[in-house]
Amino acid sequence: MASSGPTWELILACFSVLLLISQTEAATTLDSNSSASINTLFKSRHSAGDTVNLSLYYESLCPYCASFIVNQLVKVFQSDLISVVNLRLIPWGNTIIASNGSWICQHGPDECHLDIVEACAINALPNPETHFKFIRCIEGLRLKNLNNKWESCFGSLGLSAGPIRKCIDSGLAIKLEERFAYETAHLSPPHKFVPWVLVNNLPLQDDYQNFVAYICKIIKGNQLPQVCKSLVVWSNSASAVTYNPVSTMNSRNTTTVSDPPFQQAGKL
Ligand SMILES: *[C@@H]1O[C@H](CO)[C@@H](O)[C@H](O)[C@H]1NC(C)=O
Ligand SMILES: *[C@@H]1O[C@H](CO)[C@@H](O)[C@H](O)[C@H]1NC(C)=O
Ligand SMILES: *[C@@H]1O[C@H](CO)[C@@H](O)[C@H](O)[C@H]1NC(C)=O
Repeated sequence: MASSGPTWELILACFSVLLLISQTEAATTLDSNSSASINTLFKSRHSAGDTVNLSLYYESLCPYCASFIVNQLVKVFQSDLISVVNLRLIPWGNTIIASNGSWICQHGPDECHLDIVEACAINALPNPETHFKFIRCIEGLRLKNLNNKWESCFGSLGLSAGPIRKCIDSGLAIKLEERFAYETAHLSPPHKFVPWVLVNNLPLQDDYQNFVAYICKIIKGNQLPQVCKSLVVWSNSASAVTYNPVSTMNSRNTTTVSDPPFQQAGKL
């Protein structure tokens, strides 16, 4: 009698694990021929009626942001989600502009520099799959504390350094970051921490790791990505609330970005 409860729990737990395994395998299968499937999806994307804006406000050296990009956001490209998602990356985060105009990045000057590199990547490589790959490479190095080796990502991904270098060395880099600073400062409601994820205009707050479920809720039936169909089964079996690590702003005085921002960048 007393054992019947735990037995059922065990069976249910095994069932959930099996569902998770089958999900992982589905994702791996898609990923193994990702360039072909992604190209097809990009073509269909423009004929599809509606897309969902998925926006990530982050800063390049925040470990939780790096982990989110490397391990979670990549699901957009490992599944058919990209067919309905307009992915936007906004590398600025908790950076503040001092009264003398210089930028103070939460993780120091190296972060200011890599935010610029990533802003330039978004600009110089407008295909989301391409700039995401590059940024994910840098964030992967960050997780290993090798972010000073970010230039190795050009070689490892077979990308030419020219366009990004040109952007970094020109005034364009500063302009791009000023735009991101302005956009971040005008979030309504304001961001409380990074990574700060929005699905359309909805901030996911500390539930950001469940972004796929929020996207699937918005998408209309006939365009439902495959990943959303399997998610229905999944969310019924696993109701575990995940702990979402975040990087809060320091308690220092926050100088808001003026409207519009004309500040010069400080030391990079
Ligand atoms: C990937 O897809 C393309 C086009 O559908 C196909 O020609 C190619 O053989 C596939 N490659 C692999 C490794 O499955
Ligand atoms: C600007 O202000 C910041 C913070 O107050 C300070 O660390 C920095 O040295 C100043 N830079 C210049 C060029 O005065
Ligand atoms: C999505 O973002 C674009 C700009 O990139 C904007 O024009 C559009 O209104 C946004 N859509 C929604 C539903 O928020």
